[in-house]
Amino acid sequence: MVPWRRSSLALVLIAVLLPLCLTRAKKVKVNSTRIANCELEPNSFVGLQFTGGLVLRCDEDDNFGGWSGLATSSKGQHAVSVSDRGHWLEMTLEYSTEANHGAMGPVSVSGAKVGPMRGLEGEKLDGKSWSDAESVVYDNRGDLLVSFERHHRVWRYQTPSFMDSKASTDSQLETMSTVLSEHCTYNGGAEGIEVLLDGSLVAFCEDAERGTLETFAGWVVPPSPADGKAIKAVRLDLTDGFRPTDLSLLPGGAGLMVLLRMHGKGRTGMRLGLIPEGMLTNGNNNGTDQARIKPAPVAEAWQSQDSPIDNMEGLSSDDVGGDVVRLSLISDDNFSASQRTVYLTFEANLTELTRFGVEKAKWVPAEGGASERTKAVVAGVAGGLAVALVLAGVAMVFVAVRHHRRAREARYHHICELTRVDFE
Ligand SMILES: *[C@@H]1O[C@H](CO)[C@@H](O)[C@H](O)[C@H]1NC(C)=O
Ligand SMILES: *[C@@H]1O[C@H](CO)[C@@H](O)[C@H](O)[C@H]1NC(C)=O
Ligand SMILES: *[C@@H]1O[C@H](CO)[C@@H](O)[C@H](O)[C@H]1NC(C)=O
Ligand SMILES: *[C@@H]1O[C@H](CO)[C@@H](O)[C@H](O)[C@H]1NC(C)=O
Repeated sequence: MVPWRRSSLALVLIAVLLPLCLTRAKKVKVNSTRIANCELEPNSFVGLQFTGGLVLRCDEDDNFGGWSGLATSSKGQHAVSVSDRGHWLEMTLEYSTEANHGAMGPVSVSGAKVGPMRGLEGEKLDGKSWSDAESVVYDNRGDLLVSFERHHRVWRYQTPSFMDSKASTDSQLETMSTVLSEHCTYNGGAEGIEVLLDGSLVAFCEDAERGTLETFAGWVVPPSPADGKAIKAVRLDLTDGFRPTDLSLLPGGAGLMVLLRMHGKGRTGMRLGLIPEGMLTNGNNNGTDQARIKPAPVAEAWQSQDSPIDNMEGLSSDDVGGDVVRLSLISDDNFSASQRTVYLTFEANLTELTRFGVEKAKWVPAEGGASERTKAVVAGVAGGLAVALVLAGVAMVFVAVRHHRRAREARYHHICELTRVDFE
């Protein structure tokens, strides 16, 4: 065989075999250790109970970690997560009342599988900019929707074999992807998406709207936006440096729970806020109304010895019967040795939680007049100038005092000289 033929044969072989070599989902052993406690700050919803949690580890697979979204089913016993390295995690959680002071909580993990996500042609996702999955939810047909940032988009994966299936899209997902691409910053895409009872898709950008500090833009896209149904703009008012990292619709559509996360001043914290059902679907039509929703403050917790909070990015809720909702959360460990994958569960009386949301969530006016960021810059510059002026003043006084003292000393020496001359 002549050499060029051999090399072209090699190329053909590579082209044929490469898709087959695409790493497939594989079973992994996940080590779980129980979390006994999670201190919540007071002044939130008192009816939220921590029911147990797990620290998850998997040393055999480098792609275990970075879990950024969570979709649960079967009362929270089946969990799917996606990572910002473009991987799936699927696992089963065993629950027991021995978990946490008699509360029903997770005690172990079984049947875990990790595998790479695929693109529209079934191909491997190309590099970090195409693999940054941030949220996963079930749509109303039971398929999984996944949001990605950097190349902002939402794709659908068919269940149950989502791990080996290629992605697909439709007019609703395309519309949402376009809106996200137009408005979110490169690394500030939709960390949270959710599907409402009528099939509408909701998403928020992770970064504050341009020119603001505390306004987070989101959209509600109807199932068939092409039919002329308007896209609704929704804005959130989030204070204290918190950003939206996931969304979860409560059982029966009673409200939309928002998971918020914050890093700063050496602290990592999370909040849960609740948007009552009516606030999301009424008012604020088509971006014309600038009013913002301030979600009801359901929970707040900070990383500490008493509290396992990490970089919380995934949230899901399940109806466990008897008017009780189970909330499940997962953390993105950033693939860092100093962080952990924690899985936390909470329970609440759904009727009381919903009532709390309706009472405490508020409409607040748009961030006023000149943009807040401009105001902050102006305030910063003015502060800097004031400090500089004070420093200059202090320096001048210092120089004047020293000059005065030198002059006095000189005069004194001069007098001494004169007197000495007199005596001599
Ligand atoms: C799981 O991890 C813990 C803590 O690192 C360790 O003590 C335990 O032996 C591990 N369990 C298994 C089954 O590997
Ligand atoms: C929504 O916005 C579009 C374009 O900006 C406009 O054509 C449409 O009339 C608006 N609909 C409502 C209900 O305001
Ligand atoms: C982890 O990654 C997030 C971005 O995903 C970043 O904001 C945060 O500072 C990182 N560190 C910690 C401690 O979570
Ligand atoms: C939930 O709260 C409602 C209203 O307070 C109460 O009537 C109901 O009994 C509670 N359900 C459970 C399971 O505790």
